[in-house]
Formats: sequence, structure tokens, C-alpha cells
Amino acid sequence: MKTARKYKICVVGAGHVGLVAAACFSKLGHKVVCVDNDRNKIQMLKEMSMPFHEPGLEALVKRGLKRENLNFLFSLTEGIRSSEVIFIAVGTPPKKDGSADLSSVENVAYTAAKNLNSYKLVVGKSTVPVQTGKRIQEIIENNKDNGLKFDVASNPEFLREGKAIYDFFYPDRIVLGVESKKAENILKGIYSLVKAPFVVTDINTAELIKHASNSFLATKISFINAVSRVCDLAGADIEKVSKAMGMDRRIGSAFLQAGIGYGGFCFPKDIEAFAYISKKLGYEFGLLREVRNINQGQVVYFLRKIKGKLGSLKNKRAAVLGLSFKPGTDDMRFAPAVKIVEALSQEGVNLSLYDPKSMGKSKKVLKGIKRVKFFKSPYAAVAGADCVCFLTEWDEFRKLDLRKIKKIMKHPFIADGRNMLDKKKVLAAGFEYFGIGR
Ligand code: UGA
Repeated sequence: MKTARKYKICVVGAGHVGLVAAACFSKLGHKVVCVDNDRNKIQMLKEMSMPFHEPGLEALVKRGLKRENLNFLFSLTEGIRSSEVIFIAVGTPPKKDGSADLSSVENVAYTAAKNLNSYKLVVGKSTVPVQTGKRIQEIIENNKDNGLKFDVASNPEFLREGKAIYDFFYPDRIVLGVESKKAENILKGIYSLVKAPFVVTDINTAELIKHASNSFLATKISFINAVSRVCDLAGADIEKVSKAMGMDRRIGSAFLQAGIGYGGFCFPKDIEAFAYISKKLGYEFGLLREVRNINQGQVVYFLRKIKGKLGSLKNKRAAVLGLSFKPGTDDMRFAPAVKIVEALSQEGVNLSLYDPKSMGKSKKVLKGIKRVKFFKSPYAAVAGADCVCFLTEWDEFRKLDLRKIKKIMKHPFIADGRNMLDKKKVLAAGFEYFGIGR
């Protein structure tokens, strides 16, 4: 891939959004530095070791380093001074009250102001509440020491973990929130090789598009999860309901998979942040509170169903297959599996855990939880178990040999938190089974 004009880009933040964007911008032919304040991470990346699992990322990083159009830096000042476009992709973690902590974003804006050695375009890429771009503009305006010009823009990222590289190069749309023609042209130039429609808006609108999109997707999931509860009560099948609903083009089939709910670092925090900013602006977005409540209720419901089947939980053994918040990633942040493992352990259940990719991260996240053991294969984990819980729909689990599992379990009982198994086959193999809403 060769772009008509190469831009000098600094991506601040080497997390899931920043590192992917930096690697992909370098593939588009731009000269990219990716800055992070975690020295270890920068060192690791320089040595071509990835801080998280993302298919295809390592190859792109290696390619960029080899061709010398991707570099990793610890110094934010140096990164800013050597670039004309600065993408802010730092974390915006939730505060206790649900609002987004924007201190890292503000720090980048301040450092940009103090290092304005040429015209710069400062672009918000992290998910931020509406009006953050305005704040960035103010910080730079109030702290710069010279008359040099700058622009601020918003270019929210819509990529999914596990499919991030594909999503970057084949997005449904590229949203550009800009306040000048110059900023618009630069951003269009940067993405000129990506074939996707541009949606050009003002900065506030672009920021809101991102919050509204994530909240709507989470709403779809909670809606189908609520319907799944009614299905269980009525004896209907959520899989069929969801399939038929999804065939209506006005609804669409994506994000209608019922289960133990959404996790990850995006939906849970973005729902809170969107509700918070809406209220601050004067609108009580009650729907979002309910989306969160339904989501949290799914884990409770799953646990209740297990108890209902197993009776007393004390000294029972449960195997847990799948720990990451979804397949294709080792990310454990807000993974429903964490809550389920914690709750079962508290009830006295012995737990045998396995995940294809997130064992390292799981060991850290679940450190200190009693009665937990990690196993190197799904079969080793289910041996001797009274129950096996499927909590992440990894493909490898669909290929498991049910007959073998039945032989080595103490009781043949499957709790399918992701409706990922063929219920008929599982029942025919002689298991007791429950899914969510089927
Ligand atoms: C989400 C959005 O999909 C991206 O567009 C966005 O860029 C990203 O957040 C972000 O803001 O950075 P991601 O968190 O990677 O991406 O994960 P998703 O694939 O959206 O899944 C989120 C959660 O919803 C997972 O726990 C998944 O298991 C759950 N889910 C998804 C369901 O329970 N049912 C479904 O039908 C779909």
C-alpha cells in the first residue's frame, strides 16, 4: 500500500486502539511514532513482543519496525515535536461516578500546547464524552507559548478487539469531526487508501456518534437478553427468535446473541459515561441504566440456574471453559467470567479453569480467589467435574469430543453461558444441559 502523501503521525497510547492504529497507519505508508508512558511496554514493542493478543498485529508491527516507518517512543514531547498529526488514543477509564477520567487526554493536549513547534492537527481517537474536543482546543489555546496555528478534530475508532486490523482497513464508515477544511483534507489524505465512506461532521457530533453507536449495540444485546428470560419462562427458543428477528433488514442479525452479557473495556464504561454526560447536559437517559441492569442480571441469572441444577454448591467441582470477555482476545477487563468464578468460589465450589489465550492475564486477574486451578487443556479441566460452564464461545470448544468429556466428568452437566453448543447433540450425548433462553 502506498499513499499519495505521507504524513508524520504521532499516536499517543499503545493500547488496543492506539497500537492498532499506529501499526495500520504505518502499513498505509505514513511515518508513525507510537508513544506510551509505560517504559516496559515501549521496550517490549521495540523488541517486537506484543503486549496483548490481536490477530495480525505482530506482523504489522514487525513490518513497520523493519521498514523504519513505525517507531516506539517513551517521550511524549519528542513524539509531538516530530509530528504534524497527533492522534490521542490514551485511556479514558471510568471514575467512581461513571464519568470518564479525561486526565490523560488533557495531559496530551497540554503537552501539545507546550511543544507547538509547527502547525499541528490534534485528533481525538479515544472514546470520549461529547465536548471533549472543545476542552482540548481550550487547553491548547490557553497554554501555547507562540502564535503557531493548530486544529483539533475527532476521529472515533469503531474497531473490535480480535478483528481490529480487519476493522481498520475495512470500516463501515470513517467519521471525521472537523472545524476546518485543512483538518478535513489532512484526515482524508491519511485515510485515502481505505475504501470507506467519510462522514464529515463537527467535533461534538463525531464524539456523540461513537457513544451512541456503542450504547446502541449494548442495547441490542440487553434487549435480546431480556427476551431470552421471557423465552425461558414461556418455553420458547431464543435462538430462533433472534434468527427470525435478525432476518428483518430493519433490525439486522448482528448483536442479537443472548448469553451471560457483554463485557470488555468499552461497552460497560461507555454506557456509564454516556448516561453521565447526558444527565450533565440535562437529559436523564434512563434506557441506558436499564441496559446496564439487564446486563448485570444475566450473570446473576446464570449462577441461579447452576444452583438450581446442582443443589448445594459446597465442595462441588465446576470446570470453566473460556475466561476472556469474548473470543479472539486475551482481554479480561469486565469479563463476565470473572464475576462467575468469584461467585462460585465464594459458594465453596472448586474451579478448574481453561482459556485458549487468556491464561496469563486470568492468573493475574483472579489472583487471590480461593479454590481456583488452571489447566492446560479443556479435557484436563473437565476431568472429575460436576458441571462444565462455557463462558466464552471459542471455536475450539465447539470441536470438543462430547463422548470423551462425558466419560471423564463426574456428572454430565453443561451450563452453556453463550448458547454456543448444539443443544440437540448435547442432549443426545447424554448430558443435562441449560443455555440462556433455549
Ligand atoms: C466494541 C464495539 O463493537 C466496537 O465497534 C468499538 O470500537 C469498541 O467496542 C470500542 O469502543 O473500542 P469490543 O469491545 O471489542 O468492541 O467487543 P464486541 O465485539 O462489540 O463485544 C462486546 C461484548 O458484547 C462481548 O462481551 C461479547 O461477548 C458481547 N456480545 C456481543 C454479546 O453478548 N452478544 C452479541 O450478540 C454480541
